[in-house]
Amino acid sequence: MDRIRIVGGQRLNGTIPISGAKNATLPLMIAGLLTDETLILENVPRLADVVLLQRILGNHGVDIMIAGKRSGADPNGGRTIHISAKQIVDTTAPYEMVSQMRASFWVIAPLVARMGEARVSMPGGCAIGTRPVDLLIMAMQALGAEIEIDGGYVIARAKKGLRGGRIVFPKVTVGGTHTALMAATLARGTTEIENAAREPEVADVADCLNKMGARISGAGTPRIVVEGVDRLNGARHSVLPDRIETGTYAMAVAMTGGDVLLQNARAPLLQAALDVIGRAGATVTETNEGIRIARNGSDLRPIDVSTAPFPGFPTDLQAQLMALMTRADGTSHITETIFENRFMHVQELARLGARIQLHGDTATIEGVKRLRGAPVMATDLRASVSLVIAALAAEGETTVNRVYHLDRGFERLEAKLGACGAQIERLSA
Ligand code: EPZ
Repeated sequence: MDRIRIVGGQRLNGTIPISGAKNATLPLMIAGLLTDETLILENVPRLADVVLLQRILGNHGVDIMIAGKRSGADPNGGRTIHISAKQIVDTTAPYEMVSQMRASFWVIAPLVARMGEARVSMPGGCAIGTRPVDLLIMAMQALGAEIEIDGGYVIARAKKGLRGGRIVFPKVTVGGTHTALMAATLARGTTEIENAAREPEVADVADCLNKMGARISGAGTPRIVVEGVDRLNGARHSVLPDRIETGTYAMAVAMTGGDVLLQNARAPLLQAALDVIGRAGATVTETNEGIRIARNGSDLRPIDVSTAPFPGFPTDLQAQLMALMTRADGTSHITETIFENRFMHVQELARLGARIQLHGDTATIEGVKRLRGAPVMATDLRASVSLVIAALAAEGETTVNRVYHLDRGFERLEAKLGACGAQIERLSA
């Protein structure tokens, strides 16, 4: 298994190109199941999760052609992929596949909407919490799907097609909103989605669906209205920049000091996180090319933050902020409100010398003067990258094990950080 070796203590200076968003790419690829025409996605990041979803969709009969693979192509430019679900040959998403990637459960919506049936494995628990699918099932039922659970599979049927309905989410769910949106596009009549997730990736998916001929209004607000249509067509859509990758590198620069342009990044996608980074002592400047983050000499200030659905501070940046606060001049508090068990990084950060105490859903972080390198590993993507951030500021050498977590969500991480002066390399097993 590959590892990443980091020798800390270098400031970061230069430019980091921001890739297309993983969490928009995955539902966009799944949306390709809604039409028998070709959906062309641009700015697709090179990530293990994209490859895995490609395999999962292949199982349903989807043809995926990846352009821009030739050698010599700009390694920073995103890829263009052509998704063609001309014929869906299988409406089952098996356990072996869904268990590897929770988002693949979302195929249930386009499969039922287009084929009238789907049999999708329950995704099960995962390293950051129990993560049930009850609200996704509720949304499908509200649109007329009959649901049965058998042998660990959710079987959804709507032989006469889905019909519009009113879906009121009792809590904000990104996956629930994606599912409801996709299903409603081909339902007969009007669907109202209340308390919808406002995450930019939801708005990006809605934007693409509208290009495919859907009639969606209000995406990006808590109330989305969808007028169902008979069929959707092909379209071309460019994936929006990854706000979590942006925030991660912004925190890395705040951590090490230096001056970095996060190219293509868009501030409105992560304003709450940028505000926190600014309060912590870094200078954040929006430019025509992206966002510049700089910190020179000043101490890091402690911060109190709670995670929240968009536009609040994202749970997907909680671990990275915690890494940053380990070096703050004082005590910080970070409360995780979205997932009940998303603190796997705490023990590993402690191995680098961090002082963190957990009380329920709140971590109290007492800033230390120095961190020291050590072997570490983490059990999920964002936790792993928080260890990278801490390692960049730690004295000596850190090896981050189980790099496959990073490869799921960060494109060419070591190349991007290395180009800005970090001492970082991948060690192949
Ligand atoms: C998406 O997961 C993201 N994944 C996650 O990113 C992200 O952390 C999360 O949204 C929150 O922003 C993708 O976009 C692929 P939810 P999702 O449904 O949709 C509860 C990363 O690191 N809930 O918004 O699965 C759930 O347990 C990943 O890139 C139910 O109770 O998250 C959680 O407490 C990890 N019942 C809350 O809602 C349900 O049926 C929000 O989850 C569904 C969710």
